[in-house]
Amino acid sequence: MLKSTLTPIFCALAPKPKPSTRVITNTFSNSTPTVRQNTSVKNSTPSSAYIHLPFCRKRCHYCDFPIVALGSASTQTHDDPRVINYIQWLCREINATKIEDELDSAKTPLQTVFFGGGTPSLVPPSMVGTVLETLRIKFGVSESAEISMEMDPGTFDCKKMEEMMLLGVNRVSLGVQAFQEKLLKSCGRAHGLDEVHEAIDIVKKCGVENWSIDLIASLPHQTSEMWEESLRHAIEAQPTHVSVYDLQIEQGTKFGRL
Ligand SMILES: C[S@@+](CC[C@H](N)C(=O)[O-])C[C@H]1O[C@@H](n2cnc3c(N)ncnc32)[C@H](O)[C@@H]1O
Repeated sequence: MLKSTLTPIFCALAPKPKPSTRVITNTFSNSTPTVRQNTSVKNSTPSSAYIHLPFCRKRCHYCDFPIVALGSASTQTHDDPRVINYIQWLCREINATKIEDELDSAKTPLQTVFFGGGTPSLVPPSMVGTVLETLRIKFGVSESAEISMEMDPGTFDCKKMEEMMLLGVNRVSLGVQAFQEKLLKSCGRAHGLDEVHEAIDIVKKCGVENWSIDLIASLPHQTSEMWEESLRHAIEAQPTHVSVYDLQIEQGTKFGRL
């Protein structure tokens, strides 16, 4: 877990066959590889990069991801030394990654970049730009690359969304979890329902064409009517994808102690 000493997580992945169809999936996984496992990319030129941006305003009651809680009021992070230092170390890790064939890398740039978290939308666009530039110099990033970002309601406005898009972010994964104020509160989210609707409006208004909503099923106090309502709202918002996760009760989380 990342506490005061932040270990940047960056993972460059070799190509693997893509599934031919997009379905509603249960894609929950918290097995992010460590940096040490990823300081060299063997046998193949990487086609994808996962960038972990670990900062959140607060820790959700179900979450055991490696994150750093900055405090509920933290929406401006440009002068936070924890964020600045992490980005610096992250870029060093990217630069230090050994690639077997540097020339081949220039010919086959990254096809996908995924900013996961944590809450990547808390990081200032200028710093996301620095990371992308470092990746471009080291691996190249394809003109047509899919650049995804996990974004949380209440951590971005239209201006920030547009700045991220100018940097190349063209896919958004919105962490909604539930469409009921009561459930958002009871799972410890740093935002309420109004911010969920605002975030959906921003993504649509800014013209992000490829975006998804995350929902969690089987939350404490979630009735089948609430679940149906959440699915209905998610579908009405017309994202290109909905990710449904079954609640995993993890040791050491607030839910794990209930
Ligand atoms: C890496 S997390 C995204 C973090 C993002 N800051 C957020 O909370 O919206 C990706 C998704 O995993 C799901 N998730 C995380 N922990 C979970 C758990 N213990 N059980 C089920 N789903 C979980 C949530 O839907 C979350 O949006």
